[in-house]
Amino acid sequence: MFSASKMLPGVRSVVVIGAGYVGLTLSVFLASRGVRTVCVERDAERAGKIMRGHSPIHEEGLPELLKKVIREGMLEARTELGDTLEGADIVFITVGTPTGSNGGPDLSQVEEASRQIGEALAATKRGSPLIVVKSTVPPGTTWNIVRPIIESASGRSCGEGFHLCVNPEFLREGSALQDTITPDRIVIGAKHGVASEKLVRFYEALYQPAKIPTLITTPSNAELIKLATNAFLALKISFINLISQLCESLEDGDVGVVAEGLGLDPRIGPLFLRAGLGFGGSCLPKDLRALKAFTSSRGVDISLLEAILNINRAQRIRVVERAERLLGSLAGKRVAVLGLAFKPGTDDVREAASIDVIRELLARGAEVSVHDPVATENARNLLDKTVHYASSAEDCLDGADLAIIATEWPEYASLTPNKIKTKMRNPLLIDGRRVLNPQPLEEAGIKVYTVGRSSEAV
Ligand SMILES: NC(=O)c1ccc[n+]([C@@H]2O[C@H](COP(=O)([O-])OP(=O)(O)OC[C@H]3O[C@@H](n4cnc5c(N)ncnc54)[C@H](O)[C@@H]3O)[C@@H](O)[C@H]2O)c1
Repeated sequence: MFSASKMLPGVRSVVVIGAGYVGLTLSVFLASRGVRTVCVERDAERAGKIMRGHSPIHEEGLPELLKKVIREGMLEARTELGDTLEGADIVFITVGTPTGSNGGPDLSQVEEASRQIGEALAATKRGSPLIVVKSTVPPGTTWNIVRPIIESASGRSCGEGFHLCVNPEFLREGSALQDTITPDRIVIGAKHGVASEKLVRFYEALYQPAKIPTLITTPSNAELIKLATNAFLALKISFINLISQLCESLEDGDVGVVAEGLGLDPRIGPLFLRAGLGFGGSCLPKDLRALKAFTSSRGVDISLLEAILNINRAQRIRVVERAERLLGSLAGKRVAVLGLAFKPGTDDVREAASIDVIRELLARGAEVSVHDPVATENARNLLDKTVHYASSAEDCLDGADLAIIATEWPEYASLTPNKIKTKMRNPLLIDGRRVLNPQPLEEAGIKVYTVGRSSEAV
């Protein structure tokens, strides 16, 4: 079934469990580098789509490469592990770790995948594969939860019958494939040198001639590095949003300029200092909550982590309060929300700011029309049936009393004063992502409120 023409030397096959943003991107990349890859995805519809060469997620470059590796026979998608571990060198666990009902991470997908691996190992005759936990999990999970589950289901012991390490993923949705092709670092956590050395050799062969900075440490350190990274990025965003609230209270404040000045300090740096509606997506909020739950379980003060989440929540409500102040009341008013994805370049709407903003607008009586270039289908599952889905930004603005930009898709930055004025009933914009240059719009008679800028500063 697989073409043997361009295989990576020293690696027979790799199994990836879970074909989400991380697992599918990894699978397609490995297959494109000559690694025979089996992707196990429990959602039969998703697995079937992949086998037909159709990407179930929106990521630049992924559909084309997926088609190619399926055509070449280097990638196969299945719904069950079956006998795929027979002779497999590496098994990556890339299943989801959403927030559970108690606020901490729900590790049931990781536990289930571990059990399935253990059971498949019990029936496997050849080899002792390396199991790699790529899902984001709290410190201690790999060694104290994954290892015993695999050991008891397989009857094998870690370090002999199989090897185990943690290798957190740092890709960003919107540039997932590019980040996988050129990662900025590799972090590996293992108790045994055999496990980390095997993964280091695999990555060296995969990425050569590039040398990716690699940190080898304990499993708990590796797990904590991932959670701490996302919490720190969230901290930067909430910090600049706090400063943006101050800027709005000044007569001539503009957070863009303050962020620029801050970012010039090499100890701070310019990245992740973009004020707006805050962070969303499937990682930052949930990883922050996971770190908060872990911090609390260790008896360490959680107030800093809580403050990051509180500021993030407040940014979303503030924009709706601003809308209400501008229109007097939102009851019966038509509000256009431009952008649903949690950031541009993806169709992911998990914990997107837009969703909270729209729900809050509806709760205050507004009629809401929305637009997004790629994320509409995913949003439909989350939003009230009364929401109108527009086929273009212009259609979304049609007859609106107010428009809110919720995602910084480039096409919204190029909305012309003419289009806005001819379409909207009342030319009033709230730029929640700071994508518009307010000057030409204001000159054309359109009122623009930009998050982090006092209106007098325009
Ligand atoms: N999405 C990101 O940007 C990103 C970045 C870095 C790390 N991570 C972490 O990587 C992990 C995966 O994230 P994601 O966004 O790809 O998740 P996702 O929810 O998009 O995908 C997970 C997939 O795993 C499948 N699955 C679950 N259990 C399975 C099983 N037992 N067998 C087969 N398939 C199974 C699900 O059906 C789903 O398709 C999470 O822990 C996440 O925190 C995500």
